[in-house]
Amino acid sequence: MSITEIRSVVVSKPVARLTAASLLEKKRARLPIVALTAYDYPTARLVDEAGVDLVLVGDSLAMVVLGYDNTLPVTVEEMLHHTKAVARGLRRAFFVADMPYGSYQVSEEEGVRNALRFMREGGAQAVKVEGGQPRASLVRRLTECEIPVVGHIGLTPQSVHSMGGYKVQGRTWEAYDRLCRDAEALENAGAVAIVLEGIPRELAARITGQVGIPTIGIGAGPDCDGQILVFHDLFNLTFAAHAKFARQYGDAAAFFGSALASFREDVAERRFPNDAESYHLPREMRADMELLQPAASDR
Ligand code: KIV
Repeated sequence: MSITEIRSVVVSKPVARLTAASLLEKKRARLPIVALTAYDYPTARLVDEAGVDLVLVGDSLAMVVLGYDNTLPVTVEEMLHHTKAVARGLRRAFFVADMPYGSYQVSEEEGVRNALRFMREGGAQAVKVEGGQPRASLVRRLTECEIPVVGHIGLTPQSVHSMGGYKVQGRTWEAYDRLCRDAEALENAGAVAIVLEGIPRELAARITGQVGIPTIGIGAGPDCDGQILVFHDLFNLTFAAHAKFARQYGDAAAFFGSALASFREDVAERRFPNDAESYHLPREMRADMELLQPAASDR
């Protein structure tokens, strides 16, 4: 081990890794759970070092990173590729991998097999699956296989076609009651937390009070146990219209746009690179070269 490596081991403090139990403690202590998506090593580093409690490699990756119109096309292999990169950037946050469309719908066996890949190859601490009561049996089976599961109900983007678009859910008494039963079924099946997406805040508050496990809201109002947003929404990097709940915390598109224009101009005007940004031959070789150059007086 080199001196630098030894110093980094001595200097860097050990960081306690959050677990599903840590999230439950936060719910019980009424401390909000801060959650965010990440899709690669740099975003994972930034999010983790900012003290975010839960990091999700969401299948929103399909849209915000891969440029698809919805989340359906992203594959297990693609999700795993990004999950592994995020795993390398996290030290503290509880790490959840999203199960993509088609990876758990065909059979529970296939669901378990794919979930195990996210845990073993991807380094996730839990997987997330969309759906309520119809998913309870799978959640129970995954839990029995020592795979912690985060549920996801309300506006579930993988059901975009069966929902008839991205619509706020739970706005009739029938849908309200069904979502309450969905949350109860997921909790009874062993889910460690539930994402509540695109539902009225009154319903989110009701579910949050009803279940013993943490609820993490997105477009579900302020009364959930935690809040999650998509990383690219925070920084105006989606190149799409913003949902009203997606508060913007910075304008990375403007920042990158102006930095890129400066780079382009510097190269076009030969201002980049300058001498200090260039490598040079060793001094002796440069001296030899100068000797080889005919002096101005010899010419
Ligand atoms: O895919 C995703 O990013 C998600 C979050 C929005 C919860 O499911």
